[in-house]
Amino acid sequence: MRQKFVVGNWKLNKTIAEALALVTELKNQLGAVKGVQIGVAPTFVALPSVAKRLEGSNIATCAQNTHWEASGAWTGELSAPLLAEAGASWVIVGHSERRQHFGDTNETVGKKAVATIAAGLGAIVCVGETLAERDGNRTLPIVDDQLAGALGGIAAAATPKLVIAYEPVWAIGTGRTATPGQAQEVHAHIRKRLAERYGQVIADGIRIQYGGSVKPSNAESLMAERDIDGALVGGASLEAADFIAIVKAARPS
Ligand code: PGA
Repeated sequence: MRQKFVVGNWKLNKTIAEALALVTELKNQLGAVKGVQIGVAPTFVALPSVAKRLEGSNIATCAQNTHWEASGAWTGELSAPLLAEAGASWVIVGHSERRQHFGDTNETVGKKAVATIAAGLGAIVCVGETLAERDGNRTLPIVDDQLAGALGGIAAAATPKLVIAYEPVWAIGTGRTATPGQAQEVHAHIRKRLAERYGQVIADGIRIQYGGSVKPSNAESLMAERDIDGALVGGASLEAADFIAIVKAARPS
């Protein structure tokens, strides 16, 4: 059985002080939750203090992005080894906001995923179609291209460090969630592609999160779907009560 994995993606939100207040509350209130893997992804500047505050807890610290090189002349960038040193254990790569606004491509997302895993961290690789792509019946081919780019350098032996997040772009921050059925269809397709690449046994062990307007009111029905193994939560992860409710909805029944 795949353990569900719920990650809060804080994006460019929270001061360092606010980030610490939120994780302190999460740590206190989620400490007794069993059977769910939990993570939060603060901004880079809040990450070291958040990681320190979460030491010894059941909540992992995640980064929102990385560069693919370990060091060098890349002004303004951060590397996976640095993120590991700062206390991160996972990195979100290829989020649609990075693809849309910061030039991430299928190729660079693949390089970032490889660099993340090489640094000993887990990679949460995001894929998902825009509204125009869905309306044009291109959801599955778009996701296929994104997966091919991201997974090209990831060998079967590295897959314990791999999580996929299916995030339809039209559902991110819009309040418009994919229905459980719409999401499950794409998740099942992703698992089929993972099985073609790595074999069924490995594919059955890789977690596929859903992201896009996940809230306490829809989390349970989404995660009840067979191939939905957790959530990548944006807006609702900024409020302790909402995030806690989503994590609790992921508990094994
Ligand atoms: P949202 O964001 O939950 O605010 O839609 C999800 C994400 O971008 O990961």
